[in-house]
Amino acid sequence: MHTANSSIALQTVPKHVAIIMDGNGRWAQQRGKNRSAGHKEGVKSVRRITEAALQAGVECVTLFAFSSENWQRPETEVILLMELFLFVLKREVKKLHKNNIRLQIIGARNKFNNKILKALEDAEQLTANNKAMCLFVAADYGGKWDIVNATKQICAKVASGEITSDQVDEQLLSQYVAMAEYPLPDLFIRTGGEKRISNFLIWQLAYAELYFTDILWPDFGKEQFADALKWFESRQRRFGKTGEQIEAMQQPDETEDQLLNQQTNPKGSDA
Ligand code: IPE
Ligand code: IPE
Ligand code: MG
Repeated sequence: MHTANSSIALQTVPKHVAIIMDGNGRWAQQRGKNRSAGHKEGVKSVRRITEAALQAGVECVTLFAFSSENWQRPETEVILLMELFLFVLKREVKKLHKNNIRLQIIGARNKFNNKILKALEDAEQLTANNKAMCLFVAADYGGKWDIVNATKQICAKVASGEITSDQVDEQLLSQYVAMAEYPLPDLFIRTGGEKRISNFLIWQLAYAELYFTDILWPDFGKEQFADALKWFESRQRRFGKTGEQIEAMQQPDETEDQLLNQQTNPKGSDA
């Protein structure tokens, strides 16, 4: 999907948008409220942005909801966030299903209680065949965890003789990290003003366009999302080549796909 004046640089819609939803605490504190009020308000942004992404024709959205490091927050905040996670899983899933959205959770899973585990498995099962858009929620997720998790699976295959260590390369590893069967995130958004990745998708973001905004997550709405998409459209994605090489390429649609395929794992085709 390209605009009328499209060149390789002007892809109208990113396939996969990955978002660090940051700034809930500050949003609440600025209003003299408890941090939890910010997290609750943030849920409204999740709804808005999911809807906006679906309307825009984005194929996948990944939302960072809780990092490996967030367990270190005060216990009361962790408990609140887990309760909110459970509540949202149960309450929002029907709406997602109605909108033909597939929900999947990425992350370690071994620290969640049984209620959460059950709710997320139910949600994934219910929405498993939905095709309009994929929504990934990264919870108890860390990019470092993801790479270690992939490495362990590969080590097991080497140990069992299924593959040799010579066969371990970037393409192979990319088949074992989270969301391996989907297009790589091409647009990354972080709200809340910080300019860092905070152990989000460190492998998958290798060639994403990085968009940072000072707007706090509860204030991030459809218009702000549209601004990010517009910004993305203005980027020239070079993947190591020169701007002249990119401009010389004749058919933007095909060329963009070729370049992306070099970045995507072989399982990516059926996503
Ligand atoms: C992001 O908002 C939500 C989570 C990390 C769960 P924060 O809670 O980090 O908000 P700030 O950064 O303190 O404002
Ligand atoms: C990143 O936000 C994690 C989520 C949004 C879930 P943080 O607020 O935890 O990030 P740092 O610690 O300030 O980098
Ligand atoms: Mg924060």
